Amino acid sequence: MAPDPTVPALEIVNLKKKYAGTKKNPGTDALKGVSLTVPQGEFFAFLGPNGAGKTSLISIVAGLAVKSSGEVRVHGISIDEHADHAKAFIGLVPQEMNFNIFEKVINIVLDQAGYYGISRAEAMPQAEKVLKDLSLWEKRNEAAQALSGGMKRRLLIARALVHKPRVLLLDEPTAGVDVELRRGMWDFLRELNESGTTIILTTHYLEEAEQLCRRVAIINQGEIIKEGTVKELLTSLSSVTLLVDTKEPVLLSNMELLRGYPITKIDETTLEVKLEHNQPANDIFRKLSSIGINIMNVRNSGSRLEEVFVSLVEKK
Ligand SMILES: Nc1ncnc2c1ncn2[C@@H]1O[C@H](COP(=O)(O)OP(=O)(O)OP(=O)(O)O)[C@@H](O)[C@H]1O
Ligand SMILES: [Mg+2]
Repeated sequence: MAPDPTVPALEIVNLKKKYAGTKKNPGTDALKGVSLTVPQGEFFAFLGPNGAGKTSLISIVAGLAVKSSGEVRVHGISIDEHADHAKAFIGLVPQEMNFNIFEKVINIVLDQAGYYGISRAEAMPQAEKVLKDLSLWEKRNEAAQALSGGMKRRLLIARALVHKPRVLLLDEPTAGVDVELRRGMWDFLRELNESGTTIILTTHYLEEAEQLCRRVAIINQGEIIKEGTVKELLTSLSSVTLLVDTKEPVLLSNMELLRGYPITKIDETTLEVKLEHNQPANDIFRKLSSIGINIMNVRNSGSRLEEVFVSLVEKK
């Protein structure tokens, strides 16, 4: 039967996870009723601070952790009714390295195929492809412990792809990875997504979500507090902060003339301008030049998604 492209890659309904407590500790409600639908082909990110529940959610979907209640379907298949079938759709790149470091790279990848009932001989062509794609083929006969940290991360990705999953889940794939390698991984993931794989990742790096993903869910204390396209989240931003570099030092007398404007002096030649929703920046720039301040450069104060994130998490 041909796969139905209208079936969501992932459907989660009212998912709850409570970790059991002890006599002294009442336990943790890690997920408090999360509902979410991710269509096939999506590039999706879960953003949230430490302890938000991201790993709990990913682990339940991948069948590594048991949910307390709720429903999870992968390509329409319930993880309760047909666990193995649902799992076959999924590749998981876990947050922590969990392979045997004494094992050879190629065996780590081929053994994974075995979990899906794929023989080593059958798995070899795909293992070769993914190891080459991730620049690990030369290292295939080395023990995993001989790999650098970045190579180990790439090995986790290769292992997750050996059974050609339709959905790739990555839990903090670029944590602790240097900028160059991170960009290389982004390119790899983009290509994989363009060739049809649904990608769902968790990240602390707002820039990563902004650059890579189309949709994001912001998760905090076990709840999704906002979900939408990156564009939607950015337009929901109530204020935008710009940094303006000036040609000459800004004098106190200048600041007197700017009283009442949303402008703060950061240092001699930098002003911070806070624009409320839809307020045109041009009015401010005109005012600055009318009092003799020459603008060299205007910058965004940081990741704009970061501003959305901070404003949402602060509201809690
Ligand atoms: N095995 C476990 N036993 C008990 N509590 C747990 C367990 N795993 C996670 N928790 C708790 O559940 C909550 C959510 O943790 P989780 O690992 O899902 O967060 P996270 O968003 O992935 O965080 P991080 O960004 O630090 O990876 C936290 O309060 C955590 O302490
Ligand atoms: Mg985590």
